[in-house]
Amino acid sequence: MANLRPVNVSIRASDVPTFERVLGLVPDWMDVSPFDRDGLFRRLVSDPNLDLEGALVAWLGDEPVGFVLAVGRRVPLENAPDDSHRGYLTLLAVHPSHRREGVGRALVRAAEAFHVAQGRKEVWVSPYAPAYLWPGPELTRHADGVACLTAEGYQEVYRPISMEIDLRRAEEPGFVREARQRLASEGVGFAPLGAGCYLRTLEFAQRVFKGDWVRVVRETGSAILSGEASPSRLIVATADDGRVLGFSHYEGPRFGPIGVCPGQRGRKIGQVLMWETLHAQRSAGHATAWFLWSDDATANRLYDGAGFRTVRRFVLLKKTL
Ligand SMILES: CC(C)(COP(=O)(O)OP(=O)(O)OC[C@H]1O[C@@H](n2cnc3c(N)ncnc32)[C@H](O)[C@@H]1OP(=O)(O)O)[C@@H](O)C(=O)NCCC(=O)NCCS
Repeated sequence: MANLRPVNVSIRASDVPTFERVLGLVPDWMDVSPFDRDGLFRRLVSDPNLDLEGALVAWLGDEPVGFVLAVGRRVPLENAPDDSHRGYLTLLAVHPSHRREGVGRALVRAAEAFHVAQGRKEVWVSPYAPAYLWPGPELTRHADGVACLTAEGYQEVYRPISMEIDLRRAEEPGFVREARQRLASEGVGFAPLGAGCYLRTLEFAQRVFKGDWVRVVRETGSAILSGEASPSRLIVATADDGRVLGFSHYEGPRFGPIGVCPGQRGRKIGQVLMWETLHAQRSAGHATAWFLWSDDATANRLYDGAGFRTVRRFVLLKKTL
């Protein structure tokens, strides 16, 4: 039977050197997938909501043996709905030699106490933006994480999937070429973001998708306008009267977000946008493209037919405090 209250472990908030040191250890403790290692440090340290009081380290003497990152909204995310009542738990890891000694549970409880002290009512693991890492523990790679959180009263919300496509073999299906021609004859165009449609695309994202989508358009759009990013990182679909109907985005090998205005769905605009972005990723030299979050229904409608395959399944969990 495991010891639920490890007598020798003390849990303390990080200072900057500790945080930097522990972030160097956590990817190995967690066996972070190669997909996620890239940019992990940058995403965490540039998060405007990062509060080192919620970056809790478990110490055994002067050795760090566990870490949890509790984060909550301090800076609004564009026009996203208010989620200040929610806490997030985005990283949880214990050194492999100190597993099943109660360290994981003690970290989860310390993270919850941090959230309660901040007035938060629930904890989610972990649909958090903007420093988005993954939708939750991976079903197989992090099965012990799912077990630990479940043992602490977390409940599964649902299981998002991550998919990947081999761009060297990917071939645009005939029906997408036909859809592109048909849409052209109907006045729908597809083009990389330029100065002429930046504000319209931003307004579209604000009105239709909100939150992190707006951040993506704002940040990538401004990088494109300043010449730091390739315009093809953001492909925009427009009607002949200039209305924005949808857009598709990539960053490195990471595909998405992609979205089409609800009233325009079913015209294959999403398929053409997706292929425009996959072609752009291939031209930029990427051998694969992947994304972190979809549901099975969208995979069925959009991604399966293109040749994406499911590579990971996550468990999104929630607990009411
Ligand atoms: C998840 C993790 C942090 C748990 O740390 P830990 O210190 O071993 O956890 P605890 O000792 O407090 O165990 C808590 C409970 O979780 C469950 N659990 C943990 N590991 C388990 C495993 N391998 N199999 C079954 N149950 C497990 C048990 O119910 C356990 O309680 P018990 O020992 O009293 O039966 C650790 O396994 C880890 O770092 N895993 C890799 C990273 C990861 O999965 N992180 C979560 C993704 S965000």
